Amino acid sequence: MKDAQLNPYMPVSGTVVRVIEETPTIKTIVVSPEHEIPFESGQFMQLTMPGVGEAPFTPSSSPNRLETLDFTILNIGTVTERLHQLREGDLVGLRGPFGKGYPVEKLAGKEVLVVGGGCGLAPLRSLLYILFDTIDRFKKVSIKYGAKSPADLVYRDSYAQWGSIRKVSFTPTVDVGAAGWDGHVGVVTTILDDLDVSVDDSYAVVCGPEIMLKFVTFKLQEKGYRPEQIYLSMNRRMSCGTGKCGRCNVGPYYLCKDGPDMNYALIKDYPNIFGM
Ligand SMILES: Cc1cc2nc3c(=O)[nH]c(=O)nc-3n(C[C@H](O)[C@H](O)[C@H](O)COP(=O)(O)OP(=O)(O)OC[C@H]3O[C@@H](n4cnc5c(N)ncnc54)[C@H](O)[C@@H]3O)c2cc1C
Ligand code: FES
Repeated sequence: MKDAQLNPYMPVSGTVVRVIEETPTIKTIVVSPEHEIPFESGQFMQLTMPGVGEAPFTPSSSPNRLETLDFTILNIGTVTERLHQLREGDLVGLRGPFGKGYPVEKLAGKEVLVVGGGCGLAPLRSLLYILFDTIDRFKKVSIKYGAKSPADLVYRDSYAQWGSIRKVSFTPTVDVGAAGWDGHVGVVTTILDDLDVSVDDSYAVVCGPEIMLKFVTFKLQEKGYRPEQIYLSMNRRMSCGTGKCGRCNVGPYYLCKDGPDMNYALIKDYPNIFGM
């Protein structure tokens, strides 16, 4: 709790202690920071690779366990390609945390619908750990998760355990099935047709690619969710992380400071909120 809090531009050094291959394009990097970095689920950090650059990622591990931080990373470009090359013992820089956490207090006493798409289950996993740890505070947690194919599902070893927790249900789906897959086939909106929550008493928290955010938001409204009941994890390129450079705005909001998880009612009338 020293350098980073004194100077948000100064990375803290972290040592990679484990690399987990989640899918052909997604890895979870487990990092031991040189000192604990307290964060709230939904807050993000900038991962720095010297000589390459930095990029924002939301820890997928629990804020209640700070000895190591998990980052689940889709290999999509320059920095993520380099992060995918990290091996046990390698060093990575960490700046942050930045942004606001998920509105956990607002979710208390409610039925929580968690909707993830692809690597979007990563930030949500950190929230899920908090919900699971304090499950008595919530009426129900219903998790809907979609990926392109069975091979693209992250955290597959955890599903049975998550689904066995009292008051928790977990429904995965894939766009295209494969041999051995006997689960649901169809994009994630198709498993929102038979919702197992009371919409009036619920909040929805959604994270995934922009196209998925868009269609899930429309589907949720079709099912009766009001914009105030929907939280979206907004993905934009970020730089300073502290509301200074103006790279990440949606209307008057800086996603790095006011988000990245935004109440849909606050942003719905601004142009291109789904990046298209
Ligand atoms: C708050 C926040 C949390 C995030 N958490 C995660 C996470 O947990 N796991 C994860 O895999 N990814 C996460 N991302 C996305 C991740 O930051 C980008 O994938 C990463 O910056 C890509 O960097 P790159 O250098 O590898 O790609 P580049 O080489 O810069 O770009 C590759 C392609 O990706 C596009 N791109 C790059 N960055 C973004 C972005 N932020 N939004 C949309 N398109 C982009 C580029 O336009 C280009 O088409 C998060 C983003 C934000 C803003
Ligand atoms: S990243 Fe600089 S203002 Fe948000």
